[in-house]
Amino acid sequence: MCGIVGCVGEKPCESFLVNSLKNLEYRGYDSAGIAVFEGDKIKTVKAKGSIGNGLVPKLEAEGSLKAVAGIGHTRWATHGEPSDINAHPQGNARVSVVHNGIIENYRKIKKFLMGKGYTFESQTDTESVAKLLDYSYNGNPVETIASAITQLEGAYSLGIIFREHKNKVYAVRKECPLIIGIGKGEMYLASDMTAILEYTKEYYTPEAGEIAEVTKDGVTFYDIHGNVVEKEIQIAEWDVTAAQKGGYEHFMLKEIHEQPAALKNTVTPRISDGVPSFEECGLTDEMLRNYKNIYIVGCGSAMHAGMVGKYVIEDIARIPVTVDIASEFKYRKPLITKDDLLVIISQSGETADTLSALKLGKEIGADTLAAVNVSGSSIDREAKMSVKTLAGPEISVCSTKAYMVQCAFMYMFAFRLAYARGRIDKAKCAEYTEKLLQIPELIQECINRKEQYQRVASKLVNASSLLYIGRGLDYALSMEGSLKLKEISYIHSESYAGGELKHGTISLVDEEMPVIAVATQTSLYSKTAGNVEQVKSRGAKTIVICRDSADVNPNIADYIIRLPETDDLLMPLVTAVPLQLLAYYTALDRQCSIDKPRNLAKSVTVE
Ligand code: G6P
Repeated sequence: MCGIVGCVGEKPCESFLVNSLKNLEYRGYDSAGIAVFEGDKIKTVKAKGSIGNGLVPKLEAEGSLKAVAGIGHTRWATHGEPSDINAHPQGNARVSVVHNGIIENYRKIKKFLMGKGYTFESQTDTESVAKLLDYSYNGNPVETIASAITQLEGAYSLGIIFREHKNKVYAVRKECPLIIGIGKGEMYLASDMTAILEYTKEYYTPEAGEIAEVTKDGVTFYDIHGNVVEKEIQIAEWDVTAAQKGGYEHFMLKEIHEQPAALKNTVTPRISDGVPSFEECGLTDEMLRNYKNIYIVGCGSAMHAGMVGKYVIEDIARIPVTVDIASEFKYRKPLITKDDLLVIISQSGETADTLSALKLGKEIGADTLAAVNVSGSSIDREAKMSVKTLAGPEISVCSTKAYMVQCAFMYMFAFRLAYARGRIDKAKCAEYTEKLLQIPELIQECINRKEQYQRVASKLVNASSLLYIGRGLDYALSMEGSLKLKEISYIHSESYAGGELKHGTISLVDEEMPVIAVATQTSLYSKTAGNVEQVKSRGAKTIVICRDSADVNPNIADYIIRLPETDDLLMPLVTAVPLQLLAYYTALDRQCSIDKPRNLAKSVTVE
């Protein structure tokens, strides 16, 4: 949600700024802009629209810029519509700012500054930060930033340049991600590592409130009192090719194909003596035995992975699990106590609501266990225990492989929990684990059956609304399937527990309403088939997603998508694939912007 970058070096920085911003475009694409040092002035170029459609043509019209230092931004609008004026950088002749996050008290700051004679052009919260920096300016950038941030409430990572401090870039963060990259003869700043992977793998992560002063020779970190802070260099584990499309038409399709490897990478290193082990993060069997309740929080697909976790944990470990949407958890006064475990699921490790839910759990004294895909992210660092899901960088806004490994984590956790609590013996735990290790092959088999999804997608392409139904684990999967479809194809869709249909939703069903029934759970098949029959008799087009062996009545299913088989318990890992590909091919047929759906951003660092 908004991406920021910066660069200081010896050669012109324009191409770095544009290129690294393009790598961050999944964080927002409402507008983009850069500000660089030109002579003794700051030059700003910014435009509404994506980088390719807005900023790049404007920069071409300018002719190539010679500047060796500057900052850049790609925006997901929070305050003020997408427009040239509201695009970042924001500032005036003296100071220029790019910002990811939300300044909650910006109206108060703005009012104060207007009282001091400042005028405002944009509707953004960021302009208040820029003008507050101008107001606080005392000739020393670090002192100025330290003074200004004491007055900011909210979340931010900021890149800042001051006209009088040529070829220096400043940065500071609170609750939004920021890294400082170390290049050869140049230094960078970025919202995350994928922006700069092709330039360097070495970076620093500033803590909240630490101010970075970046020059071409290096970076100095200061605390809020101006004392120098020493930091350790970190090395990115990801390879640059992992963040490129590698011949696929879309990142989403590439990431779907990467799922067998992602799952294997996440699961294999955590198997010890045939069963999952979480000793790497300090989670012992004794702890698992003592928890009274499990709470799981996440947003979007991460929350849906938590739903799969709930069904599996309650089934085999017999301990109560509550799954919460992170933004609801923190405001609903949850009953979590210090005897409970809070499991936090997040691909980015930066989702603002998920981070606040984690902080609330910690405040209450619960143990916290995170499953994150980005090492060193805020949630990774904040949680008491953290397990890294090893999907590699996920670029498509629509999550696929990250969801898959989050589910895989939930399975490993459930198996170990059930074993530690004596609900299953070691042999059963090893048997489940063995079956989990066979899932990558089944995923590959699903991917190979793409014609089935393409055929069904071509029938959905003109629908304006559809329903996903399922029961038990199939219901958890139908939620994810419905989310995938609506977010990238813009077709309205809802997911319903099959049994709930009759309590209202079935009144929506007519010839225009396709219904997708997820029916992979053997013990629930006949019940879901009954629901399909009910909607079919009301005219719906029906699509049944089921096991290879399912005996589907041809009179109730207009289309059947068949899946390779495993235990009921593990079927979600297989079922996710056709749901993803159905959404993908429908969006493709509708010529939608698959990797960057409208209005969305990947890393949601604002509430
Ligand atoms: C956004 C993304 C989703 C993701 C959710 C949670 O909405 O588009 O794909 O599931 O945020 O993100 P997280 O990084 O916390 O998993």
